[in-house]
Amino acid sequence: MKVIFHGHACFEIQSNKGRIIIDPFLRNNPQAVSKPEDFKELDGILITHGHSDHLGEAIELAKNTGAVIITNFELGGYLEKFGVNVHQMHIGGKHSFHFGMIKLTTALHGSGIPLGDGTFLYGGLACGFLIGVEDKWVYHAGDTGLFGDMQLIRQQYDLELAMLPIGDNFVMGPEDAILAAKMLRPKYIIPMHYNTFPVIEQDENAFLELLQRRVPESKGIILQAGDSYTIEK
Ligand code: NI
Ligand code: MN
Repeated sequence: MKVIFHGHACFEIQSNKGRIIIDPFLRNNPQAVSKPEDFKELDGILITHGHSDHLGEAIELAKNTGAVIITNFELGGYLEKFGVNVHQMHIGGKHSFHFGMIKLTTALHGSGIPLGDGTFLYGGLACGFLIGVEDKWVYHAGDTGLFGDMQLIRQQYDLELAMLPIGDNFVMGPEDAILAAKMLRPKYIIPMHYNTFPVIEQDENAFLELLQRRVPESKGIILQAGDSYTIEK
């Protein structure tokens, strides 16, 4: 499978079964090099929560490509009103799609949908995603603080790759992401949700060094927006 980073928390996964995108924040994402109109073919659009840096251009992409939006029940109900194809799920539940298995995991974060005037519409609970493709499991943690139940994810899933936030302030900082890595022990870790805005600036190389020292079994990979990483079958 090919994992393409589009900046912030947006990743695309291309496999032999299809093409999915997670948290398509592209147009107002200062890191992104891809535009929503660059995506002609998509099968699934996974949304971790209702904040604008994650919901992004999900509606536009769903309309342009016919891809199904997969998200929590409440946010999904809100999105359905825009006439897009939505599959509502909730934390702990999994469902098999033609492009892979998707399971919603806990994330410690909000999911309000911003109305633009400083108020929010209820958007359910923020989540992360376990994605099963090509007999491998990928974990996109979403926006989250550190939580001990990551140990339960490790008990059930031998993770090939985990995308973990390291930006601090709104989500885990580097030290907490190291503790998350210790619990999850994936083969590869891609840090995300940092350096997009001044308040979440981090030194990604310092994170890599710390990871190598504390969790040597997990290899850190730094991707710039537009970069991809291929995981062999
Ligand atoms: Ni958020
Ligand atoms: Mn965010």
